[in-house]
Amino acid sequence: MTNKKAWSGRFTEPTHPLVEEFNASLEFDYRLYKHDIMGSIAHVKMLGRQKIILKKEADAIVKGLKKVEAEIESGKFTLDIADEDIHMAIERRLGEKIGKSVAGKLHTARSRNDQVATDLRLFVRDAIDEIVILIRNLQKAFHMKAQKHVNTLAPSYTHLQPAQPIRLAHWFLAYYEMLERDANRFLDARKRVNVMPLGSAALAGTNFPIDREWVAKQLKFDAISENSIDAVSDRDFVVEFLFTVSLTVTHLSRLAEELIIFTSAEFAVMELPDAFCTGSSIMPQKKNPDVPELIRGKTGRLNGHLVAVLTTLKGLPLAYNKDLQEDKEPVFDAWDQISLILEITADMVTALAVDKEKLEKRAGEGFMTAVDIADRLVLEGVPFRKAHEIVGKLVRLCTDNGLDFMGVSTDSLQKISSLLPSAVKKGGDATKSADGKDVVGGPAKKRIEARLKKIEREMKKW
Ligand code: ARG
Repeated sequence: MTNKKAWSGRFTEPTHPLVEEFNASLEFDYRLYKHDIMGSIAHVKMLGRQKIILKKEADAIVKGLKKVEAEIESGKFTLDIADEDIHMAIERRLGEKIGKSVAGKLHTARSRNDQVATDLRLFVRDAIDEIVILIRNLQKAFHMKAQKHVNTLAPSYTHLQPAQPIRLAHWFLAYYEMLERDANRFLDARKRVNVMPLGSAALAGTNFPIDREWVAKQLKFDAISENSIDAVSDRDFVVEFLFTVSLTVTHLSRLAEELIIFTSAEFAVMELPDAFCTGSSIMPQKKNPDVPELIRGKTGRLNGHLVAVLTTLKGLPLAYNKDLQEDKEPVFDAWDQISLILEITADMVTALAVDKEKLEKRAGEGFMTAVDIADRLVLEGVPFRKAHEIVGKLVRLCTDNGLDFMGVSTDSLQKISSLLPSAVKKGGDATKSADGKDVVGGPAKKRIEARLKKIEREMKKW
C-alpha cells in the first residue's frame, strides 16, 4: 500500500508492510463510523459557529460527511488498510469528495485521541441503552414464569443437596432480582460513560476558542470532561461496561448451570424444548443442552475481555498510548455476545417446561421440612440447638430404616422426644413449610404475590 499518510510530513521512508497491518485498526473500528461522523459533524459545526473556520467551509464538510456516511451504509466505501483507522478513512474519503483544502480543516482543534475517546463513549452509550432493553425483556420472561408457578412447590438446594421446600416462583424471581441489579448497574455506569472528552485534543486542549458545551449538547452528553490529560487516557468507562457485562453473563451462567442440572436425566424436573438443544452425531438417544452450555462457556470469554482491558491499562503512562487501541475489540465482542445471550435466554426461559408433579414430589422428599419440625419444638419451649439435635436423631432413624418423616411410628418418635409426634405432624408438610416463611423476601405465597405486584408497578417505570 502506498497511499500517503496524513501524518507523513516528518517521514522519509514508507511504512513497513507488516507494520501497516499491525498498526491498523480499521478492520474492527469501522464499526465506529456512525459515531465518528456524528462527532465530526458536531465538531465542525461548532468550528463554523465560533468562526474558527468559515461557515461555508463547515457546511461543505457536513454535507461531505453525510455523503461518506451514505457510502459506508450502502457498502460503496471500500476499506483500505492503509487508512489505518476509521477516523483517517473517513477523512480521506471526505477529501476525495469535497477537496482536500476544505476537508483538511475538519481536524482543526481536535486530535484522534479525543476523537476516538468520544466515538467509543458514544458507542458504549448505545450499547448500554440496547442491553438495558434486552435485560428488561428477560426480566419480563422471569416475571411471567413466576406468575405461572406461584402454586408449584419445589425443592431448593444448598451445596446442591435438598434444603427446604419453596414455591418455584421464588426461584424464577431470584434471577429477576439479579437482572434488576444488572440493569441498574448499566444505567449507573452510563452516567460516567456520558461525559464528553472532545476538546481535549492530543492531551493539552487547544489554542482555538472552541465551545465544548455546545458540542456536548449536540451529542447529548450529560457533561464534559474536566481534565484533558485524563480525558484522552481514561478508559474506566470501558472497564465498567465490560465488568457489568461480565457480571450479567455470570448470573446467566449460573442459570445455565441450573438448567443443565435440572434438565439432566438424573434430575429431570425441567425440560428444554428441542429448539434449544442439539443431538449427537454418534449417540442417537442424546438431546444436549448446547444453548445453556454455550452461555456458560461464553462467560469465560467475556470475563477475559474485562481482564484484557484492565491489564492493558495497568502500568500505562499518561496520556494516550497506542495500547489503548486494544480497547475496542473487547467492547464490540462483549456487546455482540451479551445481546445474543440475553435474547436467547429470554426465549429459552419462556419456553422452559416444568414437571410440576415431579417437582412437588421432590419437595416432599429429602427431609426438607427438618427445620420446620425443629421450629415446632422451639415453639414448645425447646432451645433451638436441642431441637436441632432431636431432629438430627430423627433423620438418622429415617435413613437407617429407609423411611421418610411421615413413615416413622408415633412410638419411635416418642422415644426420641415426647414433643416429636405433634411437631412432625404440624411441621412435616412441604406447603406449610414454604408458607410458614412469611417474611419480606421469603417464599410464602402471599409474599411472592406481593413481590409480583410490586414488580408490575416497577415495570411501568421502565
Ligand atoms: N486507532 C487509534 C485508536 O483506536 C486512534 C487514535 C490514534 N491516536 C494516535 N495518537 N495514534 O486508539
